[in-house]
Amino acid sequence: QLDMKLKKTVVMVGMMGAGKTAVGRALAAKIGVPFLDSDAEIVKAANMAIAEIFERDGEAFFRQKETQVIERLLDEERGILSTGGGAFLAEANRDLISDKGVAVWLDADLDLLWQRVRHKDTRPLLHTPNPRQTLKEIYEVRVPVYAKAELSVKADAKYSIEDMADRVLEALL
Ligand code: S3P
Repeated sequence: QLDMKLKKTVVMVGMMGAGKTAVGRALAAKIGVPFLDSDAEIVKAANMAIAEIFERDGEAFFRQKETQVIERLLDEERGILSTGGGAFLAEANRDLISDKGVAVWLDADLDLLWQRVRHKDTRPLLHTPNPRQTLKEIYEVRVPVYAKAELSVKADAKYSIEDMADRVLEALL
């Protein structure tokens, strides 16, 4: 394990299924810094699953909580912060992130994303009659926004989580 001192929190952004949580956690372990996860913090505070929060309180409420949590985590400590796939969409969040962190986009293509999310039921945005099509629509809207991240790292089925953590680290150095 490396013991790195981060100048800023490294913020993982990108689509659901890109590997933000898995890669973020592996990277944090590798370099010996805290792993932070905005979705997990929201779930903990609400004591409800993400899908339940969306259902009960709506997406707008979730987005408010998401901004608050990201701001708090960025202020609290430096580490690797994995965000939900929608977090980088709001300009206010992008401003917070670029102010206090460095955004890394995990850039995975649509087929890989679909392979990874298709068997999971945890993503309320994909609770639609045609989730494959919905994912595509979300992807097309978001890619140009994710591209605003300071750094990007291509994800690919051939890269393991550890490989991805190494590649993110390389991009940071
Ligand atoms: C969302 C992605 C999810 C979660 C919520 C909304 C999105 O996180 O925050 O379901 O808007 O893409 P993951 O990217 O970790 O799946």
